[in-house]
Amino acid sequence: MVSLNTEIRSDLPLEAILKREMERQRNKLEMIASENFVSENVLRITSSVFTNKYAEGYPEARYYGGCEYADELEHLTQTRARKLFGAEHANVQAHCGSSANMAAYFAAAKPGDTILGMDLSHGGHLSHGSPASFSGKIFKTRFYGVKPDTELIDYDEVIRLAEEVKPRIIVAGTSSYPRIIDFGKFRQAADRSGAMLIVDMAHFAGMVAAGLYPSPVPPADIVTSTTHKTLRGPRGGMILCRRVYGKAVDDAIFPGVQGGPLLHVIAAKAAALGEALEPDFIDYQRQILKNTLRLAQHLTDSGHKLVSGGTDTHLVLVDLRNKNINGLQAEIALDKAGITANKNTVPFDRERFSITSGLRLGTAALTTRGMVESDIDEVADFVVGALRNADDDGHLKKIRDMVANFTKKFPLYPGLEF
Ligand SMILES: Cc1ncc(COP(=O)(O)O)c(C=O)c1O
Repeated sequence: MVSLNTEIRSDLPLEAILKREMERQRNKLEMIASENFVSENVLRITSSVFTNKYAEGYPEARYYGGCEYADELEHLTQTRARKLFGAEHANVQAHCGSSANMAAYFAAAKPGDTILGMDLSHGGHLSHGSPASFSGKIFKTRFYGVKPDTELIDYDEVIRLAEEVKPRIIVAGTSSYPRIIDFGKFRQAADRSGAMLIVDMAHFAGMVAAGLYPSPVPPADIVTSTTHKTLRGPRGGMILCRRVYGKAVDDAIFPGVQGGPLLHVIAAKAAALGEALEPDFIDYQRQILKNTLRLAQHLTDSGHKLVSGGTDTHLVLVDLRNKNINGLQAEIALDKAGITANKNTVPFDRERFSITSGLRLGTAALTTRGMVESDIDEVADFVVGALRNADDDGHLKKIRDMVANFTKKFPLYPGLEF
């Protein structure tokens, strides 16, 4: 007879993979700007018994029985999301940022309508209209970008294009833009063209929650987000909107885009939102900003060009075109040195997306591990050293050993096997 209540069965090949991943996360410096480390509590709750439950629909209107606690859970999560961001309506079911965006578009537009989004190579996201994504296949798309001289969003172009194209939706929000976005300008563009304004705050949601980045709730009609970047929750998505769009958004998520919600992830979202409502979350976000500024200073001092000349956020985008190294080579060199980051296009990049001329570096995960400015001084030395010695495997190995030693000062999930 098959029983699940006995001791956990060992599955050696799987355990070996999980342990190696744990070691990778512990021993390397995580500088991918879209990643973070959840708290042990969020980690624990992500694996709760809610993984077993189906709950298609919404609280008090489900297509399955046994949903009384699922209802309580979803209400709690929605309430926390609304409170944290001052939103009238929250949908916490989106499985990820892309499905949150898909649902937001379907709530606001019909297939064939036009979306005005940010050019992927200037910092936008695939799901903002790229022809490679559903967004560019289902909708007509036009793009705005940054100005060549300042590398800041060209708001005049946004307004001009909006008036010319009359899009159904304007999307603001980026994956690799290091500066604060002027949502007022986007609102103006939307009002002048009769478009809905959707802000994707996936990257900077944590800073918005802490009041350290202007809130898009309002002026946007709909706000989408991931929950796993600066917000430091489980992998997932979320949509906030004005009450009038609530039903359209809910219908677009289910049954429009998704089936049953991932209740175990929603539980973990509740835990993370609870953490974000605590006063020390503001200190955490403040420290991220201090750490990124320090990193930016080091990179500039060592002759690296930063897109837009600096940062107001958790990330910097290094333009490597003056350094005789491309983004892919930089990513590989850093990896050999024990630093995880990603290649990234820079505005007006001539390289392919698989090569790129840029390197995106974030500090949210390092800050979660407890690093402060003096630690970032050492991190920056490792990064600059790796970029300077990208062809020297011996040197990169030395840095990797130093990184492994350095990370021991910042224990990650002590006591957990995987
Ligand atoms: C701005 C933005 N929106 C949406 C997404 C998509 O999120 P997901 O990978 O959860 O679909 C990302 C991912 O990095 C992002 O940067």
